[in-house]
Amino acid sequence: MRHHDCLIDGLEQPAADGRTIEMLSPSDGRTIATVARGGAAEVDAAVRAARQALETGPYGRLAAVERGRILSRMAAVVTARHAELAELEAEDCGKPMAQAKTDITCLARYLEFYGGAADKVHGLQIPFLGDWLVTGLREPHGVTAHIIPWNYPAQIFGRSVGAALAMGNACVLKPAEDAGLTCLEVARLALECGLPPGALNVVTGYGEEAGAALSKHDDIDFISFTGSPEIGTAIQTAAAQRTIGCTLELGGKSAQLVFADADLEKALPVIVNAIIQNGGQTCSAGSRVLIEASVFEQVATRLAERFSALRVGTHAMDLDLGPLINRQQEERVRRFVGRAADLPLLAEGRLAPDLPAGGHYAVPRLYGPVPAGHALAQEEVFGPVLVAMPFQDEAEAVRLANGTAFGLVAGLWTRDGGRQMRVARRLRAGQVYVNGYGAGGGIELPFGGVKRSGHGREKGFEALYEFSQLKTIAFNHG
Ligand code: NAI
Ligand code: MG
Repeated sequence: MRHHDCLIDGLEQPAADGRTIEMLSPSDGRTIATVARGGAAEVDAAVRAARQALETGPYGRLAAVERGRILSRMAAVVTARHAELAELEAEDCGKPMAQAKTDITCLARYLEFYGGAADKVHGLQIPFLGDWLVTGLREPHGVTAHIIPWNYPAQIFGRSVGAALAMGNACVLKPAEDAGLTCLEVARLALECGLPPGALNVVTGYGEEAGAALSKHDDIDFISFTGSPEIGTAIQTAAAQRTIGCTLELGGKSAQLVFADADLEKALPVIVNAIIQNGGQTCSAGSRVLIEASVFEQVATRLAERFSALRVGTHAMDLDLGPLINRQQEERVRRFVGRAADLPLLAEGRLAPDLPAGGHYAVPRLYGPVPAGHALAQEEVFGPVLVAMPFQDEAEAVRLANGTAFGLVAGLWTRDGGRQMRVARRLRAGQVYVNGYGAGGGIELPFGGVKRSGHGREKGFEALYEFSQLKTIAFNHG
């Protein structure tokens, strides 16, 4: 059986008390690996290693171009080991193989993007009075904490750690207790690619142990968090106590608006994919479809046909959906389905025959019409449940789309150019897609939420600003 210790200062280190966590396969409940159950002691050692790497180690003296080359080499190694890493990600997260392959491709793209960007982040030169030369330096925060979830470990590693290292931060990563084996693998290969020890440390462990210890550690300078709104609030509270910054990416209840003039041939497969991808366990899942009333019947019927054809199986079967991550997630989805008993069920998919008893399976479901105030129209299920709602006109479409606590992503489908611009500007979301959704990972596209979906932007060039701060230096040469 595979076992992974923490990775601290370039060395594999077991938990001080020797405890481990079993990593279970979502497909059948088997233990596929064990990892160290790190806690406060390991977090402390990891933060110290990161600080030393910055202050006295070779890492702190690396030129931006050198950091970029290391990230580029990591991208090349991830690409060379694509098949093996995709296999690991699929087994660890229960993702269908096709999804896991896409995720590893995205990981390589993040590393390629941030590798290329590392030496292209310019500071400022500011005109100021007569006898001053003023410059703005973009400096790393210092030690950055990265607490990431189980739904897209490889991709979130790429976007978060990739951008932080590009800017010269030293990272301490806490993967989720439910999945994160690829993060450990990629952190190890970073060393082979020349990343100096201490620049990237990984502490595996439970959220309430290693995660809480990391977010409350006295010597971290910034926190990047993706996960639940509840823990996001705890993270921001911990950051506030030390007056450090954080980015929070906390999921959503993202809407796709379908107007009567939409190109349905193009829209329907995208709308279905936006909710079934990763079994609906996606922060940016398109979990509401708002349909202009005059075409509601037609669109709902055609979506229902597609839902009925969906199949759920193990990650290795590589069907439309894999299992949910764990028992809690299975129960969460079951609770929401229970609360939907009063709603018209338009269609549901099917489980493959003879699925392993230890797996956590849920069929995709389409409900509609769903009242705007219903729990299924307001709360994040984080499972394969799509709610359809009719709207009368553009104003009502925007009102419904904006009518939840969240604001991560939105999509709209219409051929009317004026409406595309009007509606896109009125939607309260961090990203809006017009006649599309999700855009294949969107490595280059700034991503993050408004309202309860969080704040701060990851991905693209914008993330490099999040992982740095501007220092103004004014020289008087009078
Ligand atoms: P979570 O928010 O508890 O876990 C996310 C990460 O935070 C994990 O690495 C976890 O170990 C860590 N963590 C947990 N408690 C912590 C604490 N007290 N201090 C510091 N770190 C802590 O999410 P969980 O429990 O895995 O899933 C619960 C729900 O959260 C899901 O059903 C879903 O609705 C939402 N979620 C949203 C995600 C997104 O992509 N926005 C990802 C994962 C979950
Ligand atoms: Mg939790």
